[in-house]
Amino acid sequence: MSFQILISDPLSEEGIHPLRQTDNMEITVATGQSEEELLSNIEQYDALLVRSQTQVTKEVIQKGKNLKVIGRAGVGVDNIDLDAATEHGVIVVNAPDGNTNSAAEHTIAMLMSLARKIPQAFYSLKQQKWDRKSYVGVELKGKTLGIVGLGRIGAEVAYRAKGQRLNVVAYDPYLTEERADKMGIQCATLEEVLHQADFITVHTPLLKATKHIINDDAFKQMKPGVQIINCARGGIIDEDALYRAILDGKVAGAALDVFEEEPLQNFHLLELPEVIATPHLGASTVEAQENVAIDVSHDVINILNGGVARNP
Ligand code: NAD
Ligand code: MLT
Repeated sequence: MSFQILISDPLSEEGIHPLRQTDNMEITVATGQSEEELLSNIEQYDALLVRSQTQVTKEVIQKGKNLKVIGRAGVGVDNIDLDAATEHGVIVVNAPDGNTNSAAEHTIAMLMSLARKIPQAFYSLKQQKWDRKSYVGVELKGKTLGIVGLGRIGAEVAYRAKGQRLNVVAYDPYLTEERADKMGIQCATLEEVLHQADFITVHTPLLKATKHIINDDAFKQMKPGVQIINCARGGIIDEDALYRAILDGKVAGAALDVFEEEPLQNFHLLELPEVIATPHLGASTVEAQENVAIDVSHDVINILNGGVARNP
């Protein structure tokens, strides 16, 4: 018996090698499909492999009568209707570890770019201007980094930040004083993080409880001149509240890798010189893309052949 696999977002070719090597797997790579296109062909597939672009809606899952497994080559499963998958007996697997390092490194790159205004200075120089006055930065050493969400990526960011001689203060409902002590960081409430931090970076999933966790009220509690980073999920920070906080002069800078709507449609935040951004590149390294695709490929092979997944 052979299984039909649809890969609907760009995945690493090396990463999907295990699938291509498996005799009973037939692979179709068809990226950039509209929901209508996906709805018209999903029925023929046993497995669907996605990154974050494909919206695996209730309708897609309902139409996918033969679907047995959806593989998410990455961490966040917020582009997959999990309730519909459960209702229809479709297993959803993700790759929770494969891009941790890359996402943490991207966060630190954003932090350093923000502190030293590197993107703004580079943009100015590209326009053939020699302006040294406008791009005076701040040092990281001795400043406080607030981390909201100390899971895999948050913890890796904490370790790296300590290397930059930042003090780290973190809020996570599951963080214990004991673990914080071992990591050499301070375990805090959200309010304490907001009050103390010079830089704040968010690393939670996007959930009901974390949607707009950084909102007007949170900005009011922050230090004047605070700088904000979001390399986790659009929607954790209320973008309109961030816009207001920058215009008010409360927030001195923001580095965004992710947005409430992707691909980005409304560029109003990007018009502010205090904002630097990348188009959801946190996991976009050769290594991370290979890791996550290998992980989900193995899970899909196991599940279709009657085995179990590592992360169902
Ligand atoms: P993780 O599950 O390991 O960690 C998430 C942490 O958030 C957990 O420790 C959890 O306890 C904590 N958390 C949950 N609710 C919270 C709340 N209300 N307040 C504070 N903390 C809370 O996940 P991870 O692998 O570290 O990923 C973190 C985020 O980064 C996810 O949103 C993921 O989708 C995103 N991500 C983005 C990129 C990118 O390309 N930009 C790459 C990888 C992951
Ligand atoms: C993730 O959740 O893993 C990230 O969004 C990375 C991605 O797939 O782009």
